[in-house]
Amino acid sequence: MARKKVVAGNWKMNLTPSKAESFIGEIKDKINTDAVEVVLCVPYVNLATAQNALKGTKIHVGAQNMHYADEGAYTGEISGKMLAEMKVPYVIIGHSERREYFKESDTEVNIKSLKALKNNLIPIICIGETSKQRNSGRTFDVVRKQLSVALDDMTADDVKKVIIAYEPIWAIGTGVTATKEQAEEVCAAIRKQIEEKLGKSVADSTRILYGGSVTPDNAKELFNMPNIDGGLVGGASLKTSFEQVVRFE
Ligand code: 13P
Repeated sequence: MARKKVVAGNWKMNLTPSKAESFIGEIKDKINTDAVEVVLCVPYVNLATAQNALKGTKIHVGAQNMHYADEGAYTGEISGKMLAEMKVPYVIIGHSERREYFKESDTEVNIKSLKALKNNLIPIICIGETSKQRNSGRTFDVVRKQLSVALDDMTADDVKKVIIAYEPIWAIGTGVTATKEQAEEVCAAIRKQIEEKLGKSVADSTRILYGGSVTPDNAKELFNMPNIDGGLVGGASLKTSFEQVVRFE
């Protein structure tokens, strides 16, 4: 079966609840489609607002992070169990900004992803290299290691459910998008690695996204590459022209 494309917006730490409500009001009819799976990953305080604003549409809501514990003395954190009860189906795990500013390790990304799955959430697991790593020819090694740890202890069924987002750090928020060939070769390597671990049918089912300076101008060529199943979109998901990214075909 063909993999359904996914276009996920990552709002990062943007839009207050009132702004979120009015922005969703502006774009929801334009991005409401069956052709791709559309997800808006919003700040925690906007989850309920977004759910209400999106009622009656096919657009999904996602969170941007979660803790690996179900509950406990972790001031300021949110658990997968909480997201599950709120019926938030997706959660970004291990975004490079979390890895860089909040020191999240590959192991933490793995534990969080396993916990997300246990709560029936779909983790959108982010991996990607820095410009220094790319320039020193280490892209494939870095991504391989990140993916290998992230998928540790996952079953074939788990890996069919997860979404992998290849986000080269040098392309995030910089306006320097990976070329479609650069993005494709890494996404193809990611799929190959899944095949080596769990077989071809799992590898053929897992959605692998590209993220990093996706715009209405480059979405089509990127998302139509054979191993790229859509995108994780930052800045461009905060504009009404996000519609054109969603309708990239
Ligand atoms: P930009 O699309 O703003 O480069 O951000 C990409 C990203 O980090 C999505 O998670």
